[in-house]
Amino acid sequence: MWGQSPPPKEHVYSTHGILQNVNPSFWKDHRFGLPQHRWDSLKGSAFWVTGAGTGYGRAISLALAAAGAQVFLTGRREQKLRDTLDEGISLGIDVEQCIPVVADISIESELVRAIEVISQHVPHLHGLINNAAIPQPDFGLFPLANQSHAAWAELFAVNVTAQWLTSRAALPLMANLDGFRIVFMSSEAGWAATPGFGAYNISKSAVNSLGASFAAECSAHYSDQDVQVNVLVPGEACTEMNRGSTESPYSVVCMTLVLLSHPPGGPNGCFFHRDGRHLAFAYSSAYIKDLLTQIQR
Ligand SMILES: NC(=O)c1ccc[n+]([C@@H]2O[C@H](COP(=O)([O-])OP(=O)(O)OC[C@H]3O[C@@H](n4cnc5c(N)ncnc54)[C@H](OP(=O)(O)O)[C@@H]3O)[C@@H](O)[C@H]2O)c1
Repeated sequence: MWGQSPPPKEHVYSTHGILQNVNPSFWKDHRFGLPQHRWDSLKGSAFWVTGAGTGYGRAISLALAAAGAQVFLTGRREQKLRDTLDEGISLGIDVEQCIPVVADISIESELVRAIEVISQHVPHLHGLINNAAIPQPDFGLFPLANQSHAAWAELFAVNVTAQWLTSRAALPLMANLDGFRIVFMSSEAGWAATPGFGAYNISKSAVNSLGASFAAECSAHYSDQDVQVNVLVPGEACTEMNRGSTESPYSVVCMTLVLLSHPPGGPNGCFFHRDGRHLAFAYSSAYIKDLLTQIQR
């Protein structure tokens, strides 16, 4: 939601060249919309993707692997992580550098173990994609009246607290470089009030705030580093969580890679939509540069 009134038209920005409807089989041709130099810049970098066994997390992990990045894939179900690798192989992607790291990100001891595993493979992480989440449990149209305390607590443990715990756990491996990227996967639900989704909506509002606050604290603390921590609204796609959409989870890949491959000096604490829009909410303002071409408009 904008503040009091919509922004003047000249303050609405969008990233040109964002591809949403791509066939992942032809990734060598379209590189998910990245120019060659941005695609090449991902090669050899290391990223940690949560919720990598299905949906958006799977698509993002495989796109990063296609670009030659090392990818650590986390989720609770090992078979789903292996299915991601199989999908990569069927798309002609080299998944040698994809390492499944089974963990429940809402359990701190499992995060500690995950970091140990990652550290055995790489000295640094270049980025983290905080993507895992669980949906609103079905309590009809009035969960805020009928939902159990336990269901509320579980939702917030995964959708909010675990996003913070994962980011905190990854920081030592990211902050020993000259910069790092974090993408928090939010949702339009974070600004919505759709009946039946109360707790989920609130959890995504909290993710928005977490992403912006994490960005601000990181850039203040690591002031000499290139910190780019941002929030992405991925729109809808057919995933385990959302059976009602017909869109491909690969539709979020381009905008995610645009953020992860951004050269030094890019956005921090900003909100973006997968369609390329730079969003502004309350006291935040839209990022006023073009994310792909770097040309200030
Ligand atoms: N699809 C949409 O239309 C849509 C729209 C707006 C926002 N989003 C957001 O996009 C993100 C990805 O969702 P998706 O649509 O791709 O749904 P999804 O297919 O259900 O993916 C969620 C993933 O999170 C993992 N996960 C859940 N709890 C976990 C935990 N405690 N520890 C580790 N991993 C956990 C799940 O794997 P395990 O069960 O194996 O752990 C699963 O792979 C979420 O943040 C979601 O809120 C999706």
